[in-house]
Amino acid sequence: MIVTIDGPAGAGKSTVAKRLARRLEFEFLDTGAMYRVITLAAMVDGIPWTDIAGLAQLARACRFELQDSRMLLNGNDVSEAIRAPEITQLICNVADPPEVRAALVDRQRDWVAKRDVVTEGRDQGTVAFPDAECKIFLVASPEERAQRRFRELRAKGMDLTYEDVLAMQLDRDQRDERRPVGALRKADDAIEFSTDSLDLDQVVDQLESIVRKRQQELAGASS
Ligand code: DC
Repeated sequence: MIVTIDGPAGAGKSTVAKRLARRLEFEFLDTGAMYRVITLAAMVDGIPWTDIAGLAQLARACRFELQDSRMLLNGNDVSEAIRAPEITQLICNVADPPEVRAALVDRQRDWVAKRDVVTEGRDQGTVAFPDAECKIFLVASPEERAQRRFRELRAKGMDLTYEDVLAMQLDRDQRDERRPVGALRKADDAIEFSTDSLDLDQVVDQLESIVRKRQQELAGASS
């Protein structure tokens, strides 16, 4: 079974998807980490952002491994490095070109093949897995999302104001929504779920119920 969780930056997708996967005993795929690692690899290899063919080739061939929430690039653990704000700022260079996206969507499909997976990103229910059995679109108000990100970044010792974080996030929202291919969009058959004023356990509990209900419906339909 494939469960897709799409939604804007800061809605809590990664944490929720990881926890949900653990409860369901499914694998967890963080596709944002794939865009992040390609951005880092392009910087390391010195591939210019204008070289779309070079970036697409890198996205096809780059040796990275996703192990739960750890990301290895050429065998080195880059889990922290790919979360740096500089990478977040530059990511549009690999997330915008359709050629790079196509390469990563292929890798996502290969990764998922025949497994039970919770996969999270922006285009999982629309482009990567349009036939997924259960689709969630996770949302939260811009202020609540920025507040969460602000707390996370401050906890990591980064010197940013709440206003900086909100401004960066609104900029990312616009980029994610306006991308010509793979834009952030709720799939027609996705369930929209707002995490506003819910804590993590409440969100995971409710999503687990949605998935279990869907599993029962599918079991009923096939018997
Ligand atoms: O979820 P995240 O913040 O780690 O994602 C990083 C960036 O990658 C985000 O700005 C948009 C992009 N992305 C994407 O375009 N498609 C996905 N499926 C996942 C992430």
